[in-house]
Amino acid sequence: MAQGTLIRVSPEQPTHAVCVLGTVTQLDVCSSAPEDCTSFSINASPGVVVDTAHSPPVKKIPTGSSKWPLDPGVEVTLTMKAASNSTGDQKVQISYYGPKTPPVKALLYLTGVEISLCADITRTGKVKPTRAVKDQRTWTWGPSGQGAILLVNCDRDNPKSSAMDCEDEEVLDSKDLQDMSLMTLSTKTPRDFFITHKLVLHVARSEMDKVRVFQAIRGKLSSKYRVVLGPQRPSHSLMLPGGKYNTDFYVEGLAFPDTDFPGLITLTVSMLDSSNLWPSSIEPSWAGRFQTALVFQDSVVFRVAPWIMTPNTQPPQEVYACSIFENEDFLKSVIDLAKKAKCKVTICPEEENMDDQWMQDEMEIGYIQAPHKTLPVVFDSPRNRGLKEFPIKRVMVPAWWGGGTAGPSRGGTSGMDSFGNLEVSPPVTVRGKKYPLGRILFGSSCYPSPYSREMHQALQDFLNAQQVQAPVKLYSDWLSVGHVDEFLSFVPAPDRKGFRLLLASPRSCYKLFQEQQNEGHGEALMFQGVKKKNQQKIKNILSNKTLREHNSFVESCISWNRELLKRELGLAESDIIDIPQLFKLKEFKAKAFFPNMVNMLVLGKYLGIPKPFGPIIDGRCCLEEKVRSLLEPLGLHCTFIDDFTPYHMLQGEVHCGTNVRRKPFSFKWWNMVP
Ligand SMILES: *[C@@H]1O[C@H](CO)[C@@H](O)[C@H](O)[C@H]1NC(C)=O
Ligand SMILES: *[C@@H]1O[C@H](CO)[C@@H](O)[C@H](O)[C@H]1NC(C)=O
Repeated sequence: MAQGTLIRVSPEQPTHAVCVLGTVTQLDVCSSAPEDCTSFSINASPGVVVDTAHSPPVKKIPTGSSKWPLDPGVEVTLTMKAASNSTGDQKVQISYYGPKTPPVKALLYLTGVEISLCADITRTGKVKPTRAVKDQRTWTWGPSGQGAILLVNCDRDNPKSSAMDCEDEEVLDSKDLQDMSLMTLSTKTPRDFFITHKLVLHVARSEMDKVRVFQAIRGKLSSKYRVVLGPQRPSHSLMLPGGKYNTDFYVEGLAFPDTDFPGLITLTVSMLDSSNLWPSSIEPSWAGRFQTALVFQDSVVFRVAPWIMTPNTQPPQEVYACSIFENEDFLKSVIDLAKKAKCKVTICPEEENMDDQWMQDEMEIGYIQAPHKTLPVVFDSPRNRGLKEFPIKRVMVPAWWGGGTAGPSRGGTSGMDSFGNLEVSPPVTVRGKKYPLGRILFGSSCYPSPYSREMHQALQDFLNAQQVQAPVKLYSDWLSVGHVDEFLSFVPAPDRKGFRLLLASPRSCYKLFQEQQNEGHGEALMFQGVKKKNQQKIKNILSNKTLREHNSFVESCISWNRELLKRELGLAESDIIDIPQLFKLKEFKAKAFFPNMVNMLVLGKYLGIPKPFGPIIDGRCCLEEKVRSLLEPLGLHCTFIDDFTPYHMLQGEVHCGTNVRRKPFSFKWWNMVP
């Protein structure tokens, strides 16, 4: 509720006051009442509603029609029915009664004005008058929540510009305006009202560098937009005409929620009365230096929309990969798969990626959403290798983010800051708590040590501050590269929770190989058809003690994560599928022994799985057969892609070498309760 002020009346001289429509004004009749008076009555013009109450309730004094006892328990409030046509056109007369006659009178001249700040408080995508909303100053989550939403204007509507739209003080075009949230100030006052009063729009100094507000200046042909609030501009005096007038403001966010910024921005309009101190108009530039009385304030609170990640279960829209030396066959397979899944493909050419083929690591494509607009947003990782410029220059996802505290400027990044180490689960419910947008998963060490690797704290803080996909820290430092996508993935499923968690499993691989040996296939060879790679027999793999030891260590690391994931995502064993996989240790860190199948590209039902080059039995790879038998019953189509030389040999696979833009959730983030 907007706040008005208290009005005091006195019999000595008439009082002039302004009442804003929609506010309830307290009228103090007692403190200036003549000493010997004991009761009072009130008469008012038809445009004023007077409400008198006594606590505890008493009866009106029976003598006379509407007399009230003069004591501090009496409360008088005024509300205006309509805006005044001229200053002081509404009157209230208070008559005080005592033993002496005649009654003493006090006069109050009221001016009713309409001042309201409107934004899309109800989250419908439209700005409607919000006087019905009780409190615009609180922002609440959930389906019955309220409060307006802002987008960080981080796209580039001018393709020639290298800067994000929110980095300049200009409004480019109507597209740029659509990224902003509309806020309207409606005023209805007597014609001469702003000679003695003024309105100031303001934002807290602590929030001014997180927001920019443009005022639309209507011209004959088109509107112009002028910055009124923003960095270094916490307040702005509005020049308004009297009468009925609407002023449009366009608000853009400049920063995502982060540790030092919870995401809320309050814009306030204050009405100042200078009539008592300065008889006529004041030079506007001087106005702020004169003492003026604050008579009314109204605020609207906005929350900056969080950056949201999309899990493998969301439909794919566009696939990204790199063209590098001798990966034509790999690219062809990826393009074919994308075609089946009916999504676009963008290939980053060799001259632009500088032999950096790790598309997954360079960026994470998510989105931001307000009721009026959704914008895909690339979160640019601080890793900055050959693909450094790609997210900004080539990903025609319009918007990107890598600034702020999570940005590359912090330096000191490790492999843990690559986004193969940043995934998100499908929506889950955990012990009754709903995560309708899933939970972010990233890998770290299990405890700090001189050798441990962690995701940069600034990145962790940024992810946490988005609130809507509460991150879970997994244990991945046991891997040589150290990314969570080396041991887990999610695929869509028609039953249960709508997905399965896939985990790399040495145990399941040994079991499979043992079964094959028992059936007389101990001589079957792995790595057939791979150049410059020694083939290996099933029986030799099974009898290699060192390899067994390595894999039992890996198994224990994955088991730890398995239990963590079950607990933090509310999963049962039947939500998990074990994908046979072996690892080997080098310098105490694990890497895949054969192409790591869990590191797959998931495009709806179509899976691009690293071709494992497993033992060939009856003309078929027994690893591929096993994986098919696990995944095809879920309606999934498995395509095994040869990534051996260009990716696997360099400790990455299909997932590491690709990236996907996916459809945003249909669930709106503001409808959840984090
Ligand atoms: C203002 O003027 C209009 C038309 O002249 C009239 O209908 C309205 O009642 C007036 N308002 C007040 C508060 O006197
Ligand atoms: C057993 O496996 C380890 C780890 O991969 C490897 O270094 C070693 O050469 C293997 N031993 C034999 C006899 O193949």
